[in-house]
Amino acid sequence: MLAISLLARRPASVEERLLREFRDAYPAEARDTGRERRYEVRAAPSEVPQLDGRRLAVWAYDGRVPGPTLRVRLGETLRFELTNDLPQPTTIHWHGVRVPNAMDGVPGVTQPPIPPGGKFVYRFAPKDPGTFWFHPHLRGSEQLERGLYGVLIVEDENPLPYSQDVVWVLDDWLITREGEIDPAFNTPRDLMHDGRWGNVVTVNGSTREELVVKAGERIRLRLVDAANGRVFAPDFAGLDAKVIAVDGTYTARPLAPAGFELAPGNRLDLDVTFGPEQRGRTIVVMDRFTRRPFPLASIRVLDEVVATPKFPAPTNPRVPAWKEGMSVPVRGQYLLNARRGGEFGIEWTINDRAFPGHAMPVGPAETLPPNRWSRLRFVNQSFRLHPMHIHGQFFKVLARDGKPVDEPFFRDTVLVHRKETVDVGIVPLDRGTWMLHCHIQEHAEAGMMTLLEVG
Ligand code: C2O
Ligand code: CU
Repeated sequence: MLAISLLARRPASVEERLLREFRDAYPAEARDTGRERRYEVRAAPSEVPQLDGRRLAVWAYDGRVPGPTLRVRLGETLRFELTNDLPQPTTIHWHGVRVPNAMDGVPGVTQPPIPPGGKFVYRFAPKDPGTFWFHPHLRGSEQLERGLYGVLIVEDENPLPYSQDVVWVLDDWLITREGEIDPAFNTPRDLMHDGRWGNVVTVNGSTREELVVKAGERIRLRLVDAANGRVFAPDFAGLDAKVIAVDGTYTARPLAPAGFELAPGNRLDLDVTFGPEQRGRTIVVMDRFTRRPFPLASIRVLDEVVATPKFPAPTNPRVPAWKEGMSVPVRGQYLLNARRGGEFGIEWTINDRAFPGHAMPVGPAETLPPNRWSRLRFVNQSFRLHPMHIHGQFFKVLARDGKPVDEPFFRDTVLVHRKETVDVGIVPLDRGTWMLHCHIQEHAEAGMMTLLEVG
């Protein structure tokens, strides 16, 4: 008896306390409703209209850029059959979705590339409601840039009664004077900087995207950064707007949108209400990441006034604070840097290793124990940006440059600024071999990828 009570009184280790805080932050498994949503999508060269009336030759899913917006209710299974009619092999990665490892779309790691003329069926039941997206995981610097990406919305079991549910997919394009997508990919200039930044920015494929709302409407606005390299900082000042989800999952509480940066891969969901005083106004949402702000899209508020749906903004109160996280030793450290060499003359490295872009992986994967709390650290030794993305898992930022930060939400992609060190906490739930990489497509193509083995 005595021995047992002594054991029971043993104080929990910091890791145990962090793990306990994590309990029920998001489910280990989804409940299955047995329903399936089916999509058949074709990736192929296509043409979309440009604003000046010319046609732009792209590669697209079902002939559209962005590709189709897929919607699945939580508990349903997505069955997605891809036909590859591109002149190159391809795959699809479900960014941010906790999929079974075999559905993750990483060529040479989780599946063979889908050859031209081939088909592949992706089938999985998403475990988290939220805003996700999909894109190729092969020659991404060319395939994403040519227009291959689409959005996956996983609806809540009981969707909230927003007046509208709107998606804005942000991208930029490098267009030549002749009006084509510049066919020079992975140039030294792109590689030495923050990837390929275009000369045309689009929202939903348009340079003049306009959202029309009625006064009184309360909308859910989902932003996705699908660009190869561009970071956005959309300015919602003057709007009654709150951030309710980051990279898919809900935040612990509604957050002011000021200061949020949207790096390649990131998503941001906003809850926006238009008051009667905004009747007849047009609001221009500016981007302020670069020195020269520019308009991203506009919102036109009609004169008509409707009743505002009243309900508390969705939150995830189970997001752990993980205040003690920095006292646990770092389990995996990732040094981010560049050097001369490789196929393009410059290689981007993680711990001095470059991962071959479209070859088979080399070297052993770093191993992380499942269902345990770990601290990982990204050390940016370069002067460029690196939005670091981990497949199949969420993580939470603990500190920047050693200073604890309060980010009351999980992420799947974190922007590591020049010379910055970012510490994150993670409890991997889903076993498999997962990629960890920079989401700037040119950096990834030039080696900035590695593998993480969970289990
Ligand atoms: Cu959205 Cu491995 O990427
Ligand atoms: Cu990078």
